[in-house]
Amino acid sequence: MINKICCIGAGFVGGPTMAVLANKCPNLEFNVVDINKEKIEKWNNNNLDELPVYEPGLKDLINKQRNKNLFFSTEITSCISEADMIFISVNTPIKTTGIGAGQASDLKWVESSSRTIAENAKGHTIVVEKSTLPVRTAKVIKDILSFALKNESIDSKKTFSVLSNPEFLAEGTAIEDLTNPDRILIGGEDLAAIETLKKLYLNWIPEEKIVCTNLWSSELSKLTSNAFLAQRISSINSISAICEHTGADIQEVSLAIGLDSRIGDKFLKTGPGFGGSCFKKDILNLVYLCKQFNLNEVAEYWEKVVEMNNWQRKRIYKIIVEKLFGNLSEKKIVILGFAFKANTNDTRESAAIHIATDLLSESASLVFLDPKVNDKQIKEEMNNYISNYTSLKFSELKISFCDDIYEASQDADAIVILTEWDEYKNLNWSNLSKIMRSPPWVFDARGIVNKKNVRNSGINLWMIGDGTIIE
Ligand code: NAD
Ligand code: UGA
Repeated sequence: MINKICCIGAGFVGGPTMAVLANKCPNLEFNVVDINKEKIEKWNNNNLDELPVYEPGLKDLINKQRNKNLFFSTEITSCISEADMIFISVNTPIKTTGIGAGQASDLKWVESSSRTIAENAKGHTIVVEKSTLPVRTAKVIKDILSFALKNESIDSKKTFSVLSNPEFLAEGTAIEDLTNPDRILIGGEDLAAIETLKKLYLNWIPEEKIVCTNLWSSELSKLTSNAFLAQRISSINSISAICEHTGADIQEVSLAIGLDSRIGDKFLKTGPGFGGSCFKKDILNLVYLCKQFNLNEVAEYWEKVVEMNNWQRKRIYKIIVEKLFGNLSEKKIVILGFAFKANTNDTRESAAIHIATDLLSESASLVFLDPKVNDKQIKEEMNNYISNYTSLKFSELKISFCDDIYEASQDADAIVILTEWDEYKNLNWSNLSKIMRSPPWVFDARGIVNKKNVRNSGINLWMIGDGTIIE
């Protein structure tokens, strides 16, 4: 029997996942805790537009459940003590220094969460890995928990079961994905614990969608799933380049191959390369694991997916420079979209960071716009990347922000579309052509504009993977 559930980590996964669980399991209490006080304050903000995560449908859920059976707090130790089940949903980024830097997952937040659980849990506690983790991390968690038990008095009733329950939600569709997932994966050895977790999901998910495996299959399936998805994007992006040289159109190619039911039509949209906090880190983590097991050919195979992604971003930047006469100094370029995909305010690993930095390195003057990412966040993200990974001086770069596309485009030489926001699909190109500097260009790295409308307005168009318009 469980009554109270704690989730460590109130991020993009912890917040929405617990909101849906709270909604579907009204008799249980959910406490989402985080070390980040500012984030918790935002989750508790009365103004639902100030939540730390933007997801369609999230505001309504928070409004319904918050302070009923869903609580956000920084009271980590007391929430752990009271919990019968604890989800670990903390960040697992790539290590930046030390052994495995640039590839291995940094597990310091998982370890610190496990230690806090070990110290503060009471009675029997089911510990659930929600974060995406290298295979065999459950062993690390188990070891930390069992060391703690050694220090307990003989009559202590403290016991633990560890399960893996990876999350497959995608940002922008998180609530829909959580409400109607393709599958729920539970890995573990303790059948009673598996049943307890399964019961939560059975509140709204049909049993046939709940897959139970051993711990290691579950951990590896999550990494593999992301690797396969990212591989499809790199595959279609590689073909987009061939289209541009041959007169083929990538949208027609995607449609044609996607109709083969063995291939399927999802994840065949070409673009400026995958971004987001997970694909790159999870593939590199897989690569690192392979190298540890001396599976070097396997490591190289998966590493290529990331290399192709980097190449796609670079190639778009080079095309922009080439079309603008090889020179960007004294040129104004409007960057439409900074989020790593539409319908999210997440900018982690966004292609925009990389392409914009390369354009700035050519002395371009950039104006940024994004409907859900504010100037502060763009500035921080750009500053962070430029200061850590380039020799450019952020303060010397020509960066500005604007809310209005038409105002931003006054005297601009080019508009570059990097996020597929709906509002960028049908701009008034004839008005834009009148206010831009000649010859005006649109670089559509998402393939979303109506090419006839753009071209009829007199604006030059480059569209990703469209060999039909590229002379
Ligand atoms: P996030 O950075 O948005 O949130 C993680 C939160 O954990 C942060 O707010 C951080 O302050 C908190 N935290 C870290 N250590 C803590 C501790 N010891 N105690 C309390 N709080 C702590 O990360 P996220 O995007 O929610 O991702 C979490 C995990 O889920 C990662 O492993 C990620 O790979 C995986 N995942 C993410 C997504 C996604 O769409 N973002 C989808 C599926 C899986
Ligand atoms: C991805 C997976 O889709 C989720 O299943 C997984 O849970 C999550 O990673 C995770 O582990 O973090 P997410 O990164 O939120 O979700 O978003 P996706 O929709 O997968 O998009 C990732 C990137 O690929 C975006 O930059 C997107 O623009 C790009 N993409 C996606 C394409 O370029 N083409 C496509 O056809 C699909």
